[in-house]
Amino acid sequence: MTIRTVPTTPYTDQKPGTSGLRKKTRVFAQPNYLENFVQAILSAQPELRDETLVVGGDGRYLNRAAVQTIVKIASANSVGRILVGRGGILSTPAASALIRKFKARGGIVLSASHNPGGPEGDFGIKFNTANGGPAAESVTDAIYRKAMEISSYVIADAPDLDLDNIGTTTVENTRIEIVDSVENYATLMQHLFDFDRIRMMFHSGSFRMRFDAMHAVTGPYAREILERQLDASLGTVINGVPLEDFGGGHPDPNLAYAKELVDEMFGANGPDFGAASDGDGDRNMILGKRFFVTPSDSLAILAANAHLVPGYRQGLKGIARSMPTSAAADRVADALGIECYETPTGWKYFGNLLDANKVTLCGEESFGTGSDHLREKDGLWAVLFWLNILATRKQSVETIVREHWRRYGRNYYSRHDYEEVDAERANGLIEHVRSQLASLPGKHFSNRTVATADDFSYTDPVDQSITSRQGIRIIFADGSRIVMRLSGTGTSGATLRLYFENYEPDPARHDLDTQVALADLISIAEHIAEIRVRTDRNEPTVIT
Ligand code: G1P
Ligand code: ZN
Repeated sequence: MTIRTVPTTPYTDQKPGTSGLRKKTRVFAQPNYLENFVQAILSAQPELRDETLVVGGDGRYLNRAAVQTIVKIASANSVGRILVGRGGILSTPAASALIRKFKARGGIVLSASHNPGGPEGDFGIKFNTANGGPAAESVTDAIYRKAMEISSYVIADAPDLDLDNIGTTTVENTRIEIVDSVENYATLMQHLFDFDRIRMMFHSGSFRMRFDAMHAVTGPYAREILERQLDASLGTVINGVPLEDFGGGHPDPNLAYAKELVDEMFGANGPDFGAASDGDGDRNMILGKRFFVTPSDSLAILAANAHLVPGYRQGLKGIARSMPTSAAADRVADALGIECYETPTGWKYFGNLLDANKVTLCGEESFGTGSDHLREKDGLWAVLFWLNILATRKQSVETIVREHWRRYGRNYYSRHDYEEVDAERANGLIEHVRSQLASLPGKHFSNRTVATADDFSYTDPVDQSITSRQGIRIIFADGSRIVMRLSGTGTSGATLRLYFENYEPDPARHDLDTQVALADLISIAEHIAEIRVRTDRNEPTVIT
């Protein structure tokens, strides 16, 4: 076999964002676009030479071909061993678990997460480091620099791999193993959760669940764990076959896109527990019978009940949440006497805290929850955590959440997204608000007074690195907040995200409609940011 050196020129748009390099599929289909970036990763990571690399993706259109290309380029770059998920498929959490279990020096994960797939959809590539988590900014910056100065890449002239059968082959001096990531992931889950107890709940016959895999990567994992290992009835997992275009759907587990599941859960005689996961399996949505659990509440409830779950019985070291996530978890941390860290948006900011043993649980309002068992958020893990709590407390999802509010108060919470806004106008809106920050504190809006207003800046408690301009926070005297930021993961135009949070300690006021409970904050945001005029929209694209 021979190694070819292929001349190439840089693509100037290869700067990785919050979640790696994410672009339209047709951008990735350009000649050498993927090859350049893969070579840049390998050039920036010389320590992968003779070491182990994990490769796989969420199965979307282009996934299989990309895996073949990556394996050939990695072989030509003298990577020692490559572990590939069967069929080229690895959920993001399963990739993180494999990297950690096999002490790999890194992993290349192909996904555009919850964005639609297919020739007209999105594709993405992300590098994870030896801890199993998304590469830190210093690493992605180094990759970007390599991508900007690339003049050639090397690739092995080898035949395509048989991706579908477990086994080992050799290309150049590289050993390539096709592995069963479902089994590896399921074993990890067995160590954390009380499978016997959950199985008994399903055996009782009175507990029904629905899990919507949205034709994305979690289907095989959910079927194995829920239906085969935990004996949930067949059909518990819906849309369980991964498809290259996710069946034409938008694999984002929220009230708008997981419509089939939501309709069933809110319909007559719906199941007791409902959940969904996204394209690459790291997000989760939790539902009870006619009941939606906000991701911020979910994090707080997992924390408050962690002592009921075998893997967390020792107690929590700390909790971390992204800045826009509601402060519900902070109240639990207070009660437990542990620290709650507030980080910028993006899972990578949890990595240092987890590695330094400062936190056990992490969460984001964007349907992401996870723990120190790996270094990504983990959709099925969150579902199993809830199942373990339900099997132990033997109460409904709604009862558990309402009891939680009674004890800690309720953080009414909602996010409004304005998608595909003209980028210049969106930036203008943020600048307009930024220019008012100094004058906001002390100002009264109806019955609220602004306590502080800033552009969030984070100093990492572990390495002291500073990340600034992470979103505008307008915080009122009672802790209620408005947060505004621009998305770092969108692929066309700008996405403006507004987050509203209203803290309500009084149980007599825990039954309001969320948008009603937040109405005055929503109009204050309009007043300050002139959203309608500046985005040219009358209403948000998505409300969660
Ligand atoms: C979004 C979410 C963020 C999450 C990221 C990757 O990023 O808001 O919490 O970590 O996707 O899943 P954004 O588009 O807001 O930058
Ligand atoms: Zn995802």
